[in-house]
Amino acid sequence: HRYRDPGAGDKMDPFAEQEAWENYQSGKGTLKYGSRNKQAPADYEFVLEDGIDFIKESIMDGVNFEDEMSSEKPDDSTAKNALQKLQEERQTLPIYPYRDELLQAIHDHQVMVIVGETGSGKTTQIPQYLHEAGYTKHGLVGCTQPRRVAAMSVAARVSQEMGVKLGHEVGYSIRFEDCTSEKTILKYMTDGMLLREFLSEPDLASYSVIMVDEAHERTLSTDILFGLVKDITRFRKDLKLLISSATLDAEKFSDYFDSAPIFKIPGRRFPVTINFTKAPEADYIDAAIVTVLQIHVTQPPGDILVFLTGQEEIETIDEILKHRTRGLGTKIAELIICPIYANLPTELQAKIFEPTPDGARKVVLATNIAETSLTIDGIKYVVDPGFCKIKSYNPRTGMESLLINPISKASAMQRAGRSGRTGPGMCFRLYTAYNFQHDLDDNTVPEIQRTNLANVVLTLKSLGINDLVNFDFMDPPPSEALLKALEQLYALNALNSLGELTKTGRRMAEFPLDPMLSKTIVASEKYKCSEEAITIASMLSIGNSIFYRPKDKQVHADNARMNFHTGNVGDHIALLNVYNSWKETNYSTQWCYENYIQVRSMKRARDIRDQLEGLLERVEIEPTSNLSDLDAVKKAITSGFFHHSAKLQKTGAYKTVKNPQTVLPRWVIYHELVLTTKEYMRQVTELKPDWLIEIAPHYYQMKDVEDASTTKMPRGKGLAAD
Ligand code: CDP
Ligand code: MG
Repeated sequence: HRYRDPGAGDKMDPFAEQEAWENYQSGKGTLKYGSRNKQAPADYEFVLEDGIDFIKESIMDGVNFEDEMSSEKPDDSTAKNALQKLQEERQTLPIYPYRDELLQAIHDHQVMVIVGETGSGKTTQIPQYLHEAGYTKHGLVGCTQPRRVAAMSVAARVSQEMGVKLGHEVGYSIRFEDCTSEKTILKYMTDGMLLREFLSEPDLASYSVIMVDEAHERTLSTDILFGLVKDITRFRKDLKLLISSATLDAEKFSDYFDSAPIFKIPGRRFPVTINFTKAPEADYIDAAIVTVLQIHVTQPPGDILVFLTGQEEIETIDEILKHRTRGLGTKIAELIICPIYANLPTELQAKIFEPTPDGARKVVLATNIAETSLTIDGIKYVVDPGFCKIKSYNPRTGMESLLINPISKASAMQRAGRSGRTGPGMCFRLYTAYNFQHDLDDNTVPEIQRTNLANVVLTLKSLGINDLVNFDFMDPPPSEALLKALEQLYALNALNSLGELTKTGRRMAEFPLDPMLSKTIVASEKYKCSEEAITIASMLSIGNSIFYRPKDKQVHADNARMNFHTGNVGDHIALLNVYNSWKETNYSTQWCYENYIQVRSMKRARDIRDQLEGLLERVEIEPTSNLSDLDAVKKAITSGFFHHSAKLQKTGAYKTVKNPQTVLPRWVIYHELVLTTKEYMRQVTELKPDWLIEIAPHYYQMKDVEDASTTKMPRGKGLAAD
């Protein structure tokens, strides 16, 4: 295969651009965009009023096949069934010409690093190739994904390509949802699920191949998996291990896996014009909306991909775009808006992959998931506000937060690249070239270095890995964070003073939950309220999507919600009340509508609860209900969440002056702390301070709860209950 630079016409190495980037990163060179390709695409002009001024800054070189893989499809409207078409599509993927070479390399090497651009076919094709080559005769081919949505959607795609029912030969496994069967030979799963599989099968005996996909994402679970699978390959010589990644870091992976060979799949990429804003944008949401409309009105056909930080932002933009385009009526072409984020219901996910009808344009509003995990065909324009939500952790305070942060340069490159898959693309960065150069880090810090490790430490301990300091981490976590995790698990009585797993710890590890929640469940045995504990745990596990608050019925919705709080029982008991009331109506959908509750979330909670019930049995905790003693339930919660206690300060100084004696410090326990513009607690329940001493005497002393000046409050003042 020979490649041609579409601009200059000279021969170039398909990986030149990537190598330039890698050199730049390692300080060996400077990064020049467009040094080779001076030919700019057609000029464009924005005509909308109040548009944003962009300056065309650079062109990211693309790589084209010399023989111009024709994008024109032959007229195949007749008699060709969908399966055949899919088979043909498979053969047009960049990975296809390397199929045999790749299989040979896998045959020759036990461990291999595979690098190829997003969309080249790594995730969907490699497991199928392995199946075709016979690897599934000796065991499963497992492929891990950092994201649930990716695992599900890729499995769905592959089952279509193979013409089988999802869950049969091709399945997926994500937390609380196992869509596999006896028949399954190709199994897509989240990296966290494979980690849990080590608990029941420490040598992964049922697998013949493990593909750790999207390795560049460096999620916590992926990083831990690296250490575990590397170890297994030493004594299971029959196990093949593939580490696959969308460019970058290949050398690092190879070094870590004892110099494993790197297989590069040359990409097929078109040039991407990069535009920066002339001046910084104060409101990137607004800027994104304006830019989408600008593109829609002024640019030739091609779909738009907008990178946003989360569900709420996506919903906001979705709504505003709908409103504005409705206002423009038939003056503009149809704009089909497709959101995609982790909690998007499965049935709506398929929509983003549907081809755009003629005359219309699709705009995909996505989280980071579309950066490398999912490829959506037909994207020609990328709008990149330059932000993503990043988890960070302060080991000193033990506080974890999810904050909107600028992305890294590597991310920005990936995002831009999404627009040049099927033809020349354009990327609109809603920040200045100066920002890009000076304010963005080169790479995102691996999650292991910015997260609470309690969960992972508990898993590793239950795998019998005691010496965590000498665990083979690719990048070790800060020792402070490791220590804090050990301390926390010790405080939860999951570890003894020697750092060994206790019986409580062993039971906790059975639950696929945060240690604080699993401790709540294990402690509920003592308070005879295990039924309530698993209900609350499952309601908390579905996150923030239980209550539904339509804009035009907010008062009704809020009133309905308050009914569950009668008696000022706190948020946890309110969740319990919601579930139990729903159960009393025999899980009625109508009841959900009437109470402004999302029926889908409730069904999921029920499903999770069923699974937790099964796990109760496994750890031999009797299902008992203690509804008449809500304090007992709250004590069980406190047993898990005493780290999350706070003393509420009355912020109303006026009241304090007038009635000083009524201002008793109120203590609460919260599920999580959310940092947005201001930190607030989510899911709060009041507790009696004595409980802290009764339940966690090793953690709290009398003076902590008596003396107003010493509190275990995480951040001092400024905390407001949500
Ligand atoms: O893993 P990698 O990024 O290399 O590519 P992939 O996910 O295997 O995607 C290969 C092709 O399959 C892309 O052209 C996607 O458009 C298509 N695909 C799809 O149509 N639907 C999915 N759910 C996943 C992939
Ligand atoms: Mg992939």
